[in-house]
Amino acid sequence: MLQKVVRSAIIDAPIGRVWEVLRDFNSHDQWHAVVDQSRIEHGEPSSRVGCVRSFTLKDGNRIREQLLGLSDSEYKSTYCILDATVPLKRYVATVTLKPVTDGDRTFWHWESSFEAPRGREQELRTMVAEGVYEAGFANLRAYLSQTTVRSSVLPAPAYAGAGSAGTQGFPSREARLARYGGPEELETVASAAPPPAPGQVRIRQSAIGINFLDIYLRRGWIPGMLPLPGVLGMEAAGTVIDVGTGVTHVLPGDRVAYLCPQPGAYCSVRTLPARHVVRLPSTVDDETAAAILLKGITADYLLHDLGRIRPGTRLLVHAAAGGVGSLLCAWAKRLRATVIGTVSSEEKARIARDQGCEHVVVARDHRFADAVQAFCGGADVIVDGLGAAAVDENLAAADRRGHWISLGQASGPLPPLDPDRLLAKSLTFSRPVVFDYVATQRELQERAERVWRALAAGALPAPRIERFALAAAGAAHQKLESRASTGSLVLLP
Ligand SMILES: NC(=O)c1ccc[n+]([C@@H]2O[C@H](COP(=O)([O-])OP(=O)(O)OC[C@H]3O[C@@H](n4cnc5c(N)ncnc54)[C@H](OP(=O)(O)O)[C@@H]3O)[C@@H](O)[C@H]2O)c1
Repeated sequence: MLQKVVRSAIIDAPIGRVWEVLRDFNSHDQWHAVVDQSRIEHGEPSSRVGCVRSFTLKDGNRIREQLLGLSDSEYKSTYCILDATVPLKRYVATVTLKPVTDGDRTFWHWESSFEAPRGREQELRTMVAEGVYEAGFANLRAYLSQTTVRSSVLPAPAYAGAGSAGTQGFPSREARLARYGGPEELETVASAAPPPAPGQVRIRQSAIGINFLDIYLRRGWIPGMLPLPGVLGMEAAGTVIDVGTGVTHVLPGDRVAYLCPQPGAYCSVRTLPARHVVRLPSTVDDETAAAILLKGITADYLLHDLGRIRPGTRLLVHAAAGGVGSLLCAWAKRLRATVIGTVSSEEKARIARDQGCEHVVVARDHRFADAVQAFCGGADVIVDGLGAAAVDENLAAADRRGHWISLGQASGPLPPLDPDRLLAKSLTFSRPVVFDYVATQRELQERAERVWRALAAGALPAPRIERFALAAAGAAHQKLESRASTGSLVLLP
């Protein structure tokens, strides 16, 4: 079971002075009594994220620790133990400073989580809490009282005056929707992400994925899913700030991504159920994760579960240069399907061919059935995110026993479908939603890993990403719904 140690103290020195010492990942042998020697491996700068310090302790133990995150604006650093002669496993610690408002003093919060051998939990918790943290507070106080102030010129924290973390909400910004309507209804405002309750995690987000579903919600097409005022967004990537009790598969400092059936991702810090969160491998950066998690998992279930794509399957993909479409075409080609794409412009046709389409129909007005029939005699599987405008053409483009997968409704809500319309060619019809394919944490984990593996193997191409600031979420929506975008759109908070 994961052990947790939390300690805090007030240091009688300005925050800039305290931070000047603590941000130096190689400073402990100057002020912490338990540390005999400290050195940074490979001569790296001692405040570079990723650097590794090697401690020799006065009792002879050795510890190697890695700096995972450092924020001068928040006076915060996170680090973990890589290996040690003391039996602390999965040890991750965070140091956070805050200015004390009455007097030029500093609040120092130090917390960690780790695994300990059975029977030694209490002993190791006490060792960390008292031998490392409490002793560290006392040692730093003594050190600061003996040394002269060198500089305190670090910037004021970005959150000054905007609330505080800890038991309060963590300062955040969100693109809020007060009324259903056009992109202009999205307004960026200050907010606060609450501390994680049991089973929850709080994430500092660095990239947020935009999906066409966000547009349906913004327009008020699915009001039950987004009561107002509300925040859009189903997926994002970032770094874990803290976790609630019972959360063990992610830790503070972990780089993560999530896909959550409750909207709310258009913000800079979010608290949400940890079961929707997966850790990111080092090979996948945050922007790629935000651009590809939901869309890649969608491509995965369409190809492998629902569409059962085999070599030679004739697969018709609409919006083939779009977010889901381009991933789907590339992966289907790897499975040796015959991929036919539809797009609205020659420029998109070039992209669709690059992504693996054997044949591309440029049909802004959604008249594609004749071209599909002429090319291959009809489609075995149709992946349709178009909706209203393409119903008749989809029925006409399918071959006998074809499978029409109605994924979305970019051109308008799908009208009621008379089952007898499927009868003429013994067609089947599906109306899936990605969230049902990641209904458990295990399913999400497995599907996410398939996406990362497909990326690493080149079956999925690195996504084409267009970036927008969070405050420009409305402009990003405008681009997506005007059919002007290709690939994935990502918001940067
Ligand atoms: N059910 C699920 O599990 C699931 C999961 C993810 C996505 N989806 C659906 O998959 C589809 C693609 O999603 P995405 O996020 O990757 O978006 P996208 O494909 O990047 O963008 C939508 C594309 O739809 C085409 N389109 C055709 N008529 C349109 C119209 N009247 N207005 C706007 N666009 C129109 C455009 O491509 P052209 O200009 O080339 O026609 C446009 O670029 C959407 O329908 C979405 O709802 C469903």
